[in-house]
Amino acid sequence: MPDRIRLDGRVAVVTGAAGVIGTATVKLLAERGARIVAVDRNAELLQDAIRDLPAQAEAIAVTADVTQEDEIADYVRAAMDKFGAIDVFYNNAGIEGDITPIVRYSLETFRRVLDVNVVGVFLGLKHVLPAMLKQNRGSIINTASIAGLIGSPEIPAYTASKHAVIGLTKSAAIDCTGTNVRVNCVCPGLIDSRMLSAIIEGRNPGNAPVPNDRIVERIPARRLGLASEVASVVAFLASDEASYVTGSAYTVDGGRTAT
Ligand SMILES: NC(=O)c1ccc[n+]([C@@H]2O[C@H](COP(=O)([O-])OP(=O)(O)OC[C@H]3O[C@@H](n4cnc5c(N)ncnc54)[C@H](O)[C@@H]3O)[C@@H](O)[C@H]2O)c1
Repeated sequence: MPDRIRLDGRVAVVTGAAGVIGTATVKLLAERGARIVAVDRNAELLQDAIRDLPAQAEAIAVTADVTQEDEIADYVRAAMDKFGAIDVFYNNAGIEGDITPIVRYSLETFRRVLDVNVVGVFLGLKHVLPAMLKQNRGSIINTASIAGLIGSPEIPAYTASKHAVIGLTKSAAIDCTGTNVRVNCVCPGLIDSRMLSAIIEGRNPGNAPVPNDRIVERIPARRLGLASEVASVVAFLASDEASYVTGSAYTVDGGRTAT
């Protein structure tokens, strides 16, 4: 059967492109034919992410901090100058912050997490939406988390920030009423990644590593997710296969939030 989720010629801007999920998504979108604008504040890892793309892929890397409005305007301009359009925007950069109960959580870190995870997503929407609305087409996918749907211990800022991303997603989808611009978010669960390891270790400082059986015991799929499995849902939402999908929060969590 032919692959129905093709993105040939589409221009996809991906933030957090140097991270585990961002890199997997850049790779999958490029394999499906998209032209890539990879954005991250980590210039070195960003180059690595681009280097591993299929030989025929068209891609540029733009180093930017998503909390800085002028740098966001720069990556939007770079995408428009190079490719003339933005069809897909994966608004994905995020940080976990400290792994600490609220009573010990520093205000500075709380603000930093909201700055990257909420203000960064807001600024991305603010600067990409005008281009998409002008074209009257586009698909935006924000990265929330299952931490945006349920409470999780010792990540209060992260949990608050991801709840906010789901709210921003719905708000932006409504702003696009009557247009061909769609806005959704993905809510990954426990993905095999640096960020998950940091959270698990942060909850068990100085102790022996938590056995995998315990980590996955509340996940019906009985395993961690793969970054590539998040990328697959992003590619679906980016494509015309999701033409009637907007304002949604898609869980990619092996059933964790169903329990
Ligand atoms: N890993 C998981 O289990 C998991 C689960 C649910 C949601 N998420 C979300 O998925 C997204 C990607 O996470 P990941 O696991 O790939 O993490 P990661 O740490 O591997 O990647 C995050 C990337 O974002 C970049 N970044 C951070 N702050 C930035 C800033 N201010 N400006 C530009 N780039 C910045 C980092 O340099 C990094 O490359 C995040 O939004 C995260 O909250 C992850």
